[in-house]
Amino acid sequence: MTPAGNIALETLEREALVCTKCPLSEGRTQVVFGTGDPHASLMFVGEAPGKHEDLQGIPFVGAAGNLLPRLIEEIGLTRDAVYIANVLKCRPPGNRDPEPNEIATCRPYLEGQIAAIDPAVIVSLGNFATRLLLDTREGISRLRGEEHKLGARVLVPTYHPSAVLRGRGEALAQMRADFVVAKRALQRVT
Ligand code: URA
Repeated sequence: MTPAGNIALETLEREALVCTKCPLSEGRTQVVFGTGDPHASLMFVGEAPGKHEDLQGIPFVGAAGNLLPRLIEEIGLTRDAVYIANVLKCRPPGNRDPEPNEIATCRPYLEGQIAAIDPAVIVSLGNFATRLLLDTREGISRLRGEEHKLGARVLVPTYHPSAVLRGRGEALAQMRADFVVAKRALQRVT
């Protein structure tokens, strides 16, 4: 649950935890709303819960959840000091890709989280989060590595941790570099 202190976020979470707006609600164990500091200046947005996240109700606790906190710590932060959420709050069956109707249905929760938390910098993890937030069809490898404007916020797209775990060391080095871009943006704007 969201720690006390952000009424708008707590209200949104209460709504999400009983959401039945799309069929993913039928297969879920738990809604994975998001965790971390409800007033974080830095927010991470992944794709959708996997098996372990669905069981625990916490984002990024499976294999990809080993890498993400490690990279967060490398830039001098902890997962409790940032906020971590996903595009979808419920697990797609068999970890398939999110479908457009699911993204559209779940989108108000993510937009509500961003509005309530009001982070200065958002790191989008992979194609689904990046394309949704930047409203583009461009792929992550072209968008990553630099800052993008998202209204008054800075968006730094990077690879999804699962893709980095499947890939070669080069992607990990690029992801590390993207985290440094996010850290510098954070130092500049906060
Ligand atoms: N992958 C995601 O995108 N989010 C999670 O929470 C876990 C794995």
